[in-house]
Amino acid sequence: MKIALTGIKPTGNLHIGNYFGAIKPALELSQRYTARYFIADYHALNTVKDPAELRRYVLEIAAGWLAAGLDPQRVVFYRQSSVPETFELATILMAFTAKGLMNRAHAYKAAAQANGEKGLDADAGVNMGLYTYPALMAADILLFDPDAVPVGRDQTQHVEMAADIAQALNFNYKKPLLKIPEAVVQESVAVVPGLDGRKMSKSYGNAIPLFAPEKQLRKLVMRVVTNSQGVGESKDPDASQLFALYKLFASEAEQAALASRYRAGGMGWGDAKEELFYAANRCLAPMRERFDALIADPAGLGEVLASGAERARAIAKETLRRLRDAIGITMNKE
Ligand code: ADP
Ligand code: TRP
Repeated sequence: MKIALTGIKPTGNLHIGNYFGAIKPALELSQRYTARYFIADYHALNTVKDPAELRRYVLEIAAGWLAAGLDPQRVVFYRQSSVPETFELATILMAFTAKGLMNRAHAYKAAAQANGEKGLDADAGVNMGLYTYPALMAADILLFDPDAVPVGRDQTQHVEMAADIAQALNFNYKKPLLKIPEAVVQESVAVVPGLDGRKMSKSYGNAIPLFAPEKQLRKLVMRVVTNSQGVGESKDPDASQLFALYKLFASEAEQAALASRYRAGGMGWGDAKEELFYAANRCLAPMRERFDALIADPAGLGEVLASGAERARAIAKETLRRLRDAIGITMNKE
């Protein structure tokens, strides 16, 4: 069976964009692939500097994946930090990572550009963790020989960089030591819009938390931005983020039915929001219940992650042994 691997950074609460853009497609893939999914806690350290906050986010992401349906028997599910081989591989990969490649990484470029616009030095506030982020991510990936890396569109560049780095290493040793990974993006949900119509993101303050209590969910749905068309006017479902969100939660028949109500006129935005809230809550309520139970048992979550870490390390050690031999770090070889 082919191998799939992905990770999520514990830098905030999960939102609907994370679920539809990352978690759900990854869980679907885990039905057909041998899956290795992890919590990228050392990636989070670049931005989360408060220990209690980091611990809380890790538990929330763990509970989130499990509540969404991850089966830890089938999927190797672990924390990045529990697999120290990651950091040794990252060191090896650094020697094959062009500095220019890191200069071109989106996250770094965006930070440098924002600094430029403020008249600051390009590197102001940029730590080496952010700068070398794609190299650590390459280690996460290449350690586990995945064929497919399910990610949102914004992460495809990083996966391509991992492939470039692997190729540079394989080329040097003239052996396929590392498998070349490929990003898998589910195009239909590539970008989930937020309350204001921009990409839903925790950094834009436009997110709907995945496990928001029912009341808060309702409140947030009511805040989705619409245009000023009146009740009687015909509305274009394809031009409305309200409808884009509805599509995530509704069956095809429901989508077709609501789309014709949009077009017919006679339905106000308030009604359209009620429809979205109903469909969203129907989908999210059972997950929210599971999440609440899981998060109330941190020791249980810890056990699940510890058992995943053990399985992950067994695989990681094997990759490292292979590489150490090939690159000349292991002594007493020819
Ligand atoms: P955020 O943008 O809120 O900081 P992250 O960068 O932590 O989210 O993303 C975690 C995962 O969720 C990534 O795979 C990313 O591509 C996916 N993702 C985040 N926001 C969205 C969105 N609005 N639509 C689709 N996928 C998303
Ligand atoms: N960079 C990813 C994100 O921001 C998280 C991540 C870290 C990851 N390591 C990974 C994703 C390896 C896929 C594979 O969402």
